Amino acid sequence: MTETEAKEKIQKLSKELSQHNYNYYILSRPSISDYEFDMLLKELEALEKQFPHLVDANSPTQRVGGGITKKFNTVQHRYPMLSLGNTYSREELGEFDARVRKGLGIAANVSEAAGQAQLSFDAPTESEGVEYVCELKFDGLSISLTYENGELARAVTRGDGTQGDDVTTNVKTIRSIPLKLQKGNWPSIFEIRGEIFMHRKTFDKLNNELAAELREKGLDEEEILEKLYKNPRNFASGTLKQQNSADVAKRPLDAFLYFLYIDDNPFENHIQSLKAANDWGFQVSAHAQVCKNLNDIYKFIDYWDKERHNLSYEIDGIVIKVNDYHQQEELGFTAKVPRWAISYKFKAESASTVLEKITYQVGRTGSITPVANLKPVKLAGTTVKRASLHNANEIERLDLREGDTVYVEKGGEIIPKITGIDLSKRTNNHAHIYITHCPKCGAELVRKDGEANHYCPNENGCPPQIVGKIIHFIGRKAMDIDSLGGETVEGLYKKRLIENAADLYSLTYDKLIGLEFELNSEVDDGKNKKRSLQEKSVQNILEGIEKSKQIPFERLLFGLGIRMVGETVAKKLAKAFGDIYKLSEATVEKMILVDEIGDKIAESVYHYFREGRTKIIIEKLSQAGVQLCIKEDENQTAQSNKLEGKSFVISGVFAKYSRDELKSMIENNGGRNVGSISKSLNYLLAGDKMGPEKLKKATDLNIAVISESDFEHMLFQN
Ligand code: IVH
Repeated sequence: MTETEAKEKIQKLSKELSQHNYNYYILSRPSISDYEFDMLLKELEALEKQFPHLVDANSPTQRVGGGITKKFNTVQHRYPMLSLGNTYSREELGEFDARVRKGLGIAANVSEAAGQAQLSFDAPTESEGVEYVCELKFDGLSISLTYENGELARAVTRGDGTQGDDVTTNVKTIRSIPLKLQKGNWPSIFEIRGEIFMHRKTFDKLNNELAAELREKGLDEEEILEKLYKNPRNFASGTLKQQNSADVAKRPLDAFLYFLYIDDNPFENHIQSLKAANDWGFQVSAHAQVCKNLNDIYKFIDYWDKERHNLSYEIDGIVIKVNDYHQQEELGFTAKVPRWAISYKFKAESASTVLEKITYQVGRTGSITPVANLKPVKLAGTTVKRASLHNANEIERLDLREGDTVYVEKGGEIIPKITGIDLSKRTNNHAHIYITHCPKCGAELVRKDGEANHYCPNENGCPPQIVGKIIHFIGRKAMDIDSLGGETVEGLYKKRLIENAADLYSLTYDKLIGLEFELNSEVDDGKNKKRSLQEKSVQNILEGIEKSKQIPFERLLFGLGIRMVGETVAKKLAKAFGDIYKLSEATVEKMILVDEIGDKIAESVYHYFREGRTKIIIEKLSQAGVQLCIKEDENQTAQSNKLEGKSFVISGVFAKYSRDELKSMIENNGGRNVGSISKSLNYLLAGDKMGPEKLKKATDLNIAVISESDFEHMLFQN
């Protein structure tokens, strides 16, 4: 193909793809199948690869991401990005309307005061001198998009209102944001503002995936909850700040646009401009509505206060804007907010219900979490039955008692909170007494100085801790026996077929076939399902166990769940001692000679090997034929000097590798891990949820900030 032909073809494909994109995302009327779309995109990608100088900055291929922003440039906003005044009641809205009227010199009307307005609720809705547009207040991040000659030129975050971050590369992955506009008479340069958000379903899916990964890493439920994104807005915000736009593309975001800034504004009012923006190819909410008076506004608010739970995304209120642009201009701005718009915030939904019982969960490490079991109540579109109480301090702080009528709130977070007690309904005269003994094994609980949580110290005799350890053993990063799930392990333990990880190797076909056990024993909803092991699953389980015998020694060592022995420590110990027998005989002094092994780890390992049952477990593992020593060639894998002389700081949470894994990858390839950011540092390897301070320090010092995939590129390419 000649260059001219390629150019034509690229243009044709780009146009076609952007039309299909518009049909799908803006009109919700797909014109081809996903497969056909992908094929066209692939064709374009191939051509662009062949003729890289013909790649357009706004080509549809930019949607899949890949562009890396080491440091987001700061951009000054042409028009400041203001926020809105908030109101929480009809009275305050009445006051807003009165201010607007006064500012415009329009007489007050019957609906000026909320009380009167209610009286005339069904009166005909005539315009009374000022018309408003009510819109949903999307709970996301505001964004400013600049279009030049019909193409997206820049996308900038709100920042401090006067300047924000240039996130253009990331924003290009958002399918509903047009890279090139549809036909229409758009001005040659204009700005449009709106909100970027994540749909609830996407949030749930991605957060669940993250939870599963953390569970596999051995974190218990309380720790997992800490690490998960708290709501779709947080997730969207974390996503938009990713340095690799390919990571942004993997976490689909969406956007509604709601405000046009044009130097010579051709429109008379706001609703007209929304309509035009929609025609040019922007996604504009279908729920904006002209309201002729306060009554219309109240109706809109009441409707959406209930209906919001049926939307696929979250809104936290309603925005009310004066429709007419001349009136907007006349009203102008205060120092912080426009006088012609205001928001009405919904109250965090709360419900009252009875706290029936406080129960306690025991985690893999023995940590105790109290749980409030509630009389089921509907709240924000879901039925709430439980609320976490965190620890004994929380119960004491609230002076919670069983039988209390409590208020529960779901303030944009996953797990509902108990926010208060209706003391007028209290019948229980006794303060709640926190358990002193483990609810599962009866051992006396301990609470270390300065710690909020109680622990069950009966590591080897407490069922949830034993089962938790076996689940850790079969995890992906340990022995990777994925044919066995947590529920099966629990079932096998209850049937006394296994008491520790080594017992897995004495399971046989005859012991397993037809075995019946109950699922979901933790969930007491009276609907416990039974499961019976059939031929196929038995075969899978046995095959999985057999295969695990080939898993390298270091992963077995990690899988044993010795306190303080994570993946990296296990690797170091395996490498230093070579086999489990030498390690079991090692003194604390000898162990601390190994790099990164401190007193506490060494003592923990030392004690583990001095416990009576450890010998039995090792004996069983040895008879089963699992790898209890390092294989000669294992030591040599994945080593190079590609990172020689380079220093790294690792910060945040990563999608693919654990921090320990990243550390060993750096070391195995000649690099150096350092603890803090300084001028001499070469790279900051940044994951999610990295502290902003660190990022700032690194960017101030001009240190390269790289993502997990940049790091992979460094290691695995060429
Ligand atoms: S208009 C000058 N419309 O709410 C007027 N804002 O609390 C600019 N928001 O910063 C805002 N939905 O991020 C407007 N339909 C909507 C909105 C909306 C959400 C956000 C926006 C703004 C914040 C103000």
